[in-house]
Amino acid sequence: MTDVDRGGLLTSIRSAVAAAPNPDAAMTQTVRLLKDGIAAYTWVGIYLLDGDELVLGPFLGKPSPHTRIPLGSGICGAAASERATIVVDDVNADPRYLACSLETRSEIVVPIMEGDEVLGEIDIDSDRPAAFGAADTRLLEQVAALLAESLSEE
Ligand code: SME
Repeated sequence: MTDVDRGGLLTSIRSAVAAAPNPDAAMTQTVRLLKDGIAAYTWVGIYLLDGDELVLGPFLGKPSPHTRIPLGSGICGAAASERATIVVDDVNADPRYLACSLETRSEIVVPIMEGDEVLGEIDIDSDRPAAFGAADTRLLEQVAALLAESLSEE
């Protein structure tokens, strides 16, 4: 499978989010476009913050055992607590990692922020080691900003 270019993918996601009737639809379509657009994105999901837990929303890939993640736990919890994108090139070398699938080798977690407030996060796993570079961080931080707008309009 060939990747679509990341600029084109961002344009498609921007259109889908703008046309979506509600944030759930915006998130579902975003997950689909990311998963279909980039071959290295093996598992794509969105968690939403509920109190002090991250709750799994739309996702594509194998079902994850981690449907609720406390803020103090996992790479997901760390990204939300630090309010910053975390890229892990080798998940097996990171003691914070909560395993979702034995095949996963690398992961990126990008917070969805409204100002200083964390609304949720985009979580992507790859079966390839060190799959996420600067272009992925840039793309996914822009996508997170689009989702933050959609979620805060509710
Ligand atoms: N790996 C994540 C848990 C979520 S699964 O990857 C879907 C973490 O360490 O927080």
